[in-house]
Amino acid sequence: MKILVSGGCGYIGSHTVVDLLKENYEVVIVDNLINSKREVLDNIKKITNKEVTFYKVDLCDKEKLKEVFEKESIDAVIHFAGLKAVGESVEKPLMYYENNLISTINLLDLMREFNVKKIVFSSSATVYGNPDSLPIYEDFPLSTTNPYGTTKLMIENILKDLYKSDNSFDITILRYFNPIGAHKSGLLGEDPNGIPNNLMPYIVRVATGKFPILNIFGDDYKTVDGTGVRDYIHVCDLSYGHVLALKNKKTGLKIYNLGTGKGTSVLELVKKFESVNGVKVNYQIAPRRDGDIDACYASNEKAVKELGFKPKYTIEDMCRDSYNFVKMNTN
Ligand code: NAD
Ligand code: UD1
Repeated sequence: MKILVSGGCGYIGSHTVVDLLKENYEVVIVDNLINSKREVLDNIKKITNKEVTFYKVDLCDKEKLKEVFEKESIDAVIHFAGLKAVGESVEKPLMYYENNLISTINLLDLMREFNVKKIVFSSSATVYGNPDSLPIYEDFPLSTTNPYGTTKLMIENILKDLYKSDNSFDITILRYFNPIGAHKSGLLGEDPNGIPNNLMPYIVRVATGKFPILNIFGDDYKTVDGTGVRDYIHVCDLSYGHVLALKNKKTGLKIYNLGTGKGTSVLELVKKFESVNGVKVNYQIAPRRDGDIDACYASNEKAVKELGFKPKYTIEDMCRDSYNFVKMNTN
């Protein structure tokens, strides 16, 4: 089976490509490298000893994307490509709407034209807004607080409408919680440019001395120790969820949370990181960050039951692998 992986050079996409190759899928990556590097392709080869076909194409360029569909006989698509920085999306909303929506509409229209009916889409727990209760189930009300999140919700709605119009489409929407960690080889991981927005990339940069101190955004949340609680999931557990989604016997339009179902506070994560890696992470308590919520963790029951999703990595593994990746990739 030949899988087109859009955004396959990125953080989650690259780990998923490794899993797909291990399971003997053929992989065609389409990525414009706006937030990733070509070296990722060499590292995928080093890990798997297998080749992928790569097209440096922007999904917003429909003609170029059509050429890929003409050349390759695609059976299914995993659609990771998109911009994902929340703060940037608030500053440049049109860039986010244009990139994330036009790319997806182009992709879906070509899938329709070339009769490729199976797609797995990267959505986010951000579509639950500020949930009324925890854990979060897939049928909770949806709302968003920033343009990035709104693009995810709009794409979910586009997919639902597409399915209504043509129920031969087989659509899986995966709502990721907080992916961290890296491939155990240290060859693949998350390497954001500039100042990271997310917690783990910031922690590792403080641990390696790149940044002096971690600001913990708020210690007066209604949580175990007052700091924000999230559902961190190892990127390798998350990536394997995509293989399970491809293999799922259930067809139609399906939505799954991909999380561990366990909440960890910022302070708990920092302490774990220090003890697992034997390093100090200097921190100070700072004001709350706008738009943050007290706590967010998944019910993953549906994914466990219907996909056979079984996250196997612990918070310790996530801390160790995140640090290992950055140590191996820092000069
Ligand atoms: P990433 O930025 O590492 O990967 C996305 C890839 O898509 C990059 O390689 C980028 O170059 C490519 N891309 C972006 N726009 C493109 C376009 N128009 N044409 C071709 N390629 C394009 O991000 P990631 O963390 O791997 O996330 C993958 C997907 O999962 C994204 O859609 C993201 O919104 C979603 N997601 C991520 C998280 C997270 O915490 N990382 C959480 C929830 C959902
Ligand atoms: C953020 C995004 C969300 C996106 C998710 C994964 C916001 C409001 N939400 O979620 O849309 O899907 O990333 O990419 O940006 N924290 C600190 N100090 C830091 C960084 C973070 O204390 O320097 C805290 C936060 O307040 C939060 C926790 O760490 O309590 C996790 O933050 P982060 O990694 O940014 O993820 P989310 O806020 O869950």
